[in-house]
Amino acid sequence: METVVSGIRPTGNLHLGNYFGAVKSFIQMQNEYNCYFFIADWHSLTTHPHPENMKRSVRTILAEYLACGIDPEKATIYIQSDVREVAELYLYLNMNAYLGELERVTSFKDKIRQQPDNVNAGLLTYPSLMASDIIIHKAVKVPVGKDQEQNMEMARKFARRFNSIYGVDFFPEPASFSLSNKAVKIPGLDGSGKMGKSEGNAIYLADDEATIRKKVMKAVTDAGPTIPNSEKPVAVENLFSLLDIVSTPDTYAYFNDKYNACEIRYGDLKKQLAADINTFCAPIRERILDISANDAYMDKVAREGAEKASESARKTIREVREIIGFRS
Ligand code: TRP
Repeated sequence: METVVSGIRPTGNLHLGNYFGAVKSFIQMQNEYNCYFFIADWHSLTTHPHPENMKRSVRTILAEYLACGIDPEKATIYIQSDVREVAELYLYLNMNAYLGELERVTSFKDKIRQQPDNVNAGLLTYPSLMASDIIIHKAVKVPVGKDQEQNMEMARKFARRFNSIYGVDFFPEPASFSLSNKAVKIPGLDGSGKMGKSEGNAIYLADDEATIRKKVMKAVTDAGPTIPNSEKPVAVENLFSLLDIVSTPDTYAYFNDKYNACEIRYGDLKKQLAADINTFCAPIRERILDISANDAYMDKVAREGAEKASESARKTIREVREIIGFRS
């Protein structure tokens, strides 16, 4: 079975966009591949050197992934910092990673603009840590968004370079499995194209019913159509896209007909949309609460995930040490 790796930085709660993007793909992939999904807490240190709430963020994301249906019986779910072998491989990759190429990475250039007082070596070598995450398990597929393409190119380059420097055919070149192409795109409620945490237009899986209703009722619309069968403006199209995802085809058709007949009442549409989003989120939300309250279960998942991931990582490191010429 082919091996898949993907990492998630623990930066906050999952929203509907995450669910219909990465999470749903992960849930599908865990049935078809040997999957390693991990929480990239080391990567967080590149931007947040004082992780006061690291433990909490890691727990939150772990509980939410489990609540969505990522299954520790099928996939290996672990916390990056539990697998120290990754750091050893990172050291070796860094010896053959060059300043020039690392400085050219767009996300590095963005980050040094965002945090000019903390241009640390971890930020510079983010791509070699990410490459280590991937090739430590000899993964061949990595489900990531378009924004990770440059990091993926670096990972392939580092894998190739290791093979050529040591004259081996050891690491496979990991391919990107672009989520952006496969995922259903979840629009924002503010008339923008995309739901996102930084956009401030997100509905979170953990939001309660009242919060969902409040957010949906505030969604941007217009004065309503005056010409039958006219094209919908983006903000209105966005609401219909959401309806298409969470409501029944009948509900969608009902409001679509109303729109086309210029009889749409956005208040009614929003009420229905809020109710249907809540119906979708409620069982996930309940599982999030249950799992978060179950420390013993969370600890067990993290411990078993760490054991399985370490076993795979130890095997790779043993061979890497032999290839380079260290005592194994
Ligand atoms: N850089 C990724 C992101 O910001 C997270 C990540 C770290 C990752 N290591 C990885 C993703 C390895 C895939 C594989 O989203």
